[in-house]
Amino acid sequence: MRIFLDTANIEQIRQGVKWGIVSGVTTNPTLVAQEGVKDYQFVVQEICSIVDGPVSAEVVVEGVENMLSQARSIAEWHPNVAVKIPATPDGLEVTSKLARDGIKVNMTLCFSANQALLAALAGAAFVSPFVGRLDDIGQDGMALVKSIMDIYGEYGFETEVIAASIRHPLHCVAAAQAGADIATVPFKVLEQMIKHPLTETGNARFLADWHRVSRQG
Ligand code: E4P
Repeated sequence: MRIFLDTANIEQIRQGVKWGIVSGVTTNPTLVAQEGVKDYQFVVQEICSIVDGPVSAEVVVEGVENMLSQARSIAEWHPNVAVKIPATPDGLEVTSKLARDGIKVNMTLCFSANQALLAALAGAAFVSPFVGRLDDIGQDGMALVKSIMDIYGEYGFETEVIAASIRHPLHCVAAAQAGADIATVPFKVLEQMIKHPLTETGNARFLADWHRVSRQG
């Protein structure tokens, strides 16, 4: 399973890329707004200059023609950009048309296996089931990821599954066990994935013991 960062924060992306384990980024209008960014194109192009992999940027208009035209211009920002289109009837039409033109779509706000099936049939490059938001309303978000993996496996769909709306490290383990192609994680979760108290105390002890002996020698 690959790891994408789910953020529009440039410093977090730089740090994740330095660790060598981030192979893409997903943004959304909320994440961009949180950073106080006014120029979406500028920030997406900056992210593309840092990460060598897919960077998702979302359309922020409604209606087939508006979405199509905005998606086409977003796709021109950088060759690595995937355009996020919501899993709606209009979104399906837009996705089919963009896919026919070779534009990569990340079908977002996916909350059912049927939406994921249609995303694949429409030719989306990625589909993003929102695990945490389903958990929030008492449904099993990871069960959705498993269902999508089963269906895609059955028919050999090439659409990649991004486990999204990840809230904690256990979500990452479960996404990997479910066979998700990608988990897109907030930076805080990425830090939680590598940190372990026994590693910290064990490392401190090894270093202290080593320094004590080397001082004696
Ligand atoms: C994914 O592409 C979305 O940007 C994101 O995972 C949504 O997460 P949230 O439910 O925590 O807002």
